[in-house]
Amino acid sequence: MLMQSALLALGATAVAALQPLEVKGQDFVNPKTGNRFQIVGMAYQPGGSAGYDPKKKRDPLSDPDVCMRDAALLQILGVNAIRVYNLNPDLNHDECVSIFNAAGMYMLLDVNSPMPGEALTSFEVYKSYYASYLNRTFAVVEAFKDYPNTLAFFSGNEVIDKEETTEFVPSYVRAVTRDLKNYIKNWSDRKIPVGYSAADVREVLWDSFNYFTCSLQGDKDDMSMGDLFALNSYSWCGDSSFTESSFDKLVEGFENTPVPVFFSEFGCNTPSPRIFTEIGSIYGADMYDVFAGGIVYEYTQEPNNYGLVNMTEEGPATLMSDFYSLRDQYAKLDFKKLQSLKPKGSTPKPVSCSPKLITVDGFQNNFTLPVLPPGAKEMIDNGIENKPKPGKLVEIKDWKVKYEVRNADGTVIKDLAVKPLADDEVNAPGSNTANLSAGSGSSGSSGSQGSTNGGDGDDKENSAAGHGVGGGVLALVMGVAALVAAF
Ligand SMILES: *[C@@H]1O[C@H](CO)[C@@H](O)[C@H](O)[C@H]1NC(C)=O
Ligand SMILES: *[C@@H]1O[C@H](CO)[C@@H](O)[C@H](O)[C@H]1NC(C)=O
Ligand SMILES: *[C@@H]1O[C@H](CO)[C@@H](O)[C@H](O)[C@H]1NC(C)=O
Ligand SMILES: *[C@@H]1O[C@H](CO)[C@@H](O)[C@H](O)[C@H]1NC(C)=O
Ligand SMILES: *[C@@H]1O[C@H](CO)[C@@H](O)[C@H](O)[C@H]1NC(C)=O
Repeated sequence: MLMQSALLALGATAVAALQPLEVKGQDFVNPKTGNRFQIVGMAYQPGGSAGYDPKKKRDPLSDPDVCMRDAALLQILGVNAIRVYNLNPDLNHDECVSIFNAAGMYMLLDVNSPMPGEALTSFEVYKSYYASYLNRTFAVVEAFKDYPNTLAFFSGNEVIDKEETTEFVPSYVRAVTRDLKNYIKNWSDRKIPVGYSAADVREVLWDSFNYFTCSLQGDKDDMSMGDLFALNSYSWCGDSSFTESSFDKLVEGFENTPVPVFFSEFGCNTPSPRIFTEIGSIYGADMYDVFAGGIVYEYTQEPNNYGLVNMTEEGPATLMSDFYSLRDQYAKLDFKKLQSLKPKGSTPKPVSCSPKLITVDGFQNNFTLPVLPPGAKEMIDNGIENKPKPGKLVEIKDWKVKYEVRNADGTVIKDLAVKPLADDEVNAPGSNTANLSAGSGSSGSSGSQGSTNGGDGDDKENSAAGHGVGGGVLALVMGVAALVAAF
C-alpha cells in the first residue's frame, strides 16, 4: 500500500517488468526465484542489414507497430529472448522494449554495427580501436542499461573468423570487453554481463574460449574477463544427433567453463525445410547443464534463407514452414522444469591467463592488452557526452497487431495481439494461444512429422567421426554466411 501511493505521488506508472537477471558461475539466475534462466532465443533483425539505417533513423527496435507484430508471433512461438545486432543508440526504443518486456522476453544486444567505425575489424584490428568507436559502444550501453530486460551485451561478433585473424584480434576484443565492463561499472545501476560471440571455427574455438575467459593474474574480478562466452554454431544439420553434430564435443570442451556458455546463433538450414531436432538436445539432459540455451538464427527471411517469417517492407507478413517446425519442437519441451533448474552448486574458478592455454600456432598468446586510446579514459571516468536519453518502460495502451499476418497456407491469423504477461512472468509456449493453422501447408508438413524423437539421446556412434570433420568445415562456411547476413 505504502509503495503504491509513493509511486503515484511520484507520478510513476506501474508497468509490469521482467526481473533483471544475474550471472552466477555458469548460469544466468533470476535473483528473486533463485532459479536458472535458460535462453530460448531468436535472432531478430527485421529488414536485414537495411533494417539498421542511421540515415533513415531506423533500427529493429524503433518502430512499435513492427515490434508489436513480431512480439506477438515470437510469443506464440514460445521464445523468451531476442538478440538484436545493429542498434542506433540515439533513437527512442522505449515502446519496442516495453512491448518485448510485456511479452516476457529479454534482450541480448550487440554494441557494434557493420557501419565503418562501429566495430573492430578482423584485418588490421589496431586501426579500428579508437575513442569515437568506444563512444558508440558506450552510447548503446547508455541507451539500454536502464531497461530491466537487458540481459547482456556482446562486445564483438565473429571478429575472429579464420585462423589468420587470431594473431592480433584476441587482445583487442578482450580490451573492448574490459572497457565496456568499466563503463558499466561506473555508470550503470546494475551489473550487466558482457561477452564475445564467437564463430564456430572449431580449429581456434578452444583457444578463443580460453583467451576470453581466463583471468589475468588469477584475479576473479579481472575486468577484461568475459562474463559469458557465446558461440554461433551450425554443426547440427537436418536429422542429426548429439554425437553426429559434434555437440557432444562442445559439451565436453565447455564443461569446466567459469561463465555461462550458450549458442548466440544456431539453426543450420541445409537441408531445408528445417526440422529443428537440435532443440531436444540443447534443452535436454545432454546439454542443459553446460549450455544456458541458445538463439535460433533467424526471425525474418533474408536472401540467405534462414527465416521463419516472410515480411514485406509495408508490414504484412507470412509465416514459413520452419516457423511451425520450431514451434512444434519447443512444444515438446517441459518449460516448467527447464526454467526451474537450480544453479549448479560449485563453479570452476577461472584459469589464470598464460601462454600455456594457447595451443594453435599463430594464435595470440600475449595477454598484455592494448591500453585505452587517447580520449577514452575521460569517457569512462566522466561518462560520454550527449548521452542518449535513459531508456524506460512506458505504458502501452493497445496490444493489437496492426498488420495482416498469414499462415503458410494463406489463411489470415485472426485477432493477433501481444498478450501482456504479469510482473516477472517469462514467456513460454502457451502464453499466447492465437489460432494458427495446424501445420505448415504443403511444403513443410514433412518437417513437423519427421521430428518425433526430439533429438535427445539419438546417438549414432558409427558415423560420429566422419561427420565431425565435415561438420567442422560446414560450420565454418555457415558461420561466415551468417556473419555476412548479420551485416
Ligand atoms: C558519442 O556518442 C553520442 C551518442 O551517440 C554522440 O551524440 C556524440 O556525438 C558522440 N561523441 C563522439 C566524440 O563521437
Ligand atoms: C516472400 O514474399 C514475397 C512477396 O511479398 C514473395 O515474392 C517471395 O517469394 C516470398 N518468399 C518466400 C521464401 O516465401
Ligand atoms: C605483448 O603485447 C604488448 C602490447 O601490444 C607489447 O607491448 C609486448 O611487447 C608484447 N609482448 C610480447 C612478448 O610479444
Ligand atoms: C570510473 O572508473 C575509473 C576506473 O576505470 C575510476 O578511476 C573512476 O574514478 C571512476 N569514475 C566514477 C565517476 O566512478
Ligand atoms: C481457428 O481457425 C480455424 C480455421 O482457420 C477455424 O475453423 C476455427 O474455428 C478457429 N478457432 C477459433 C477458436 O477461432
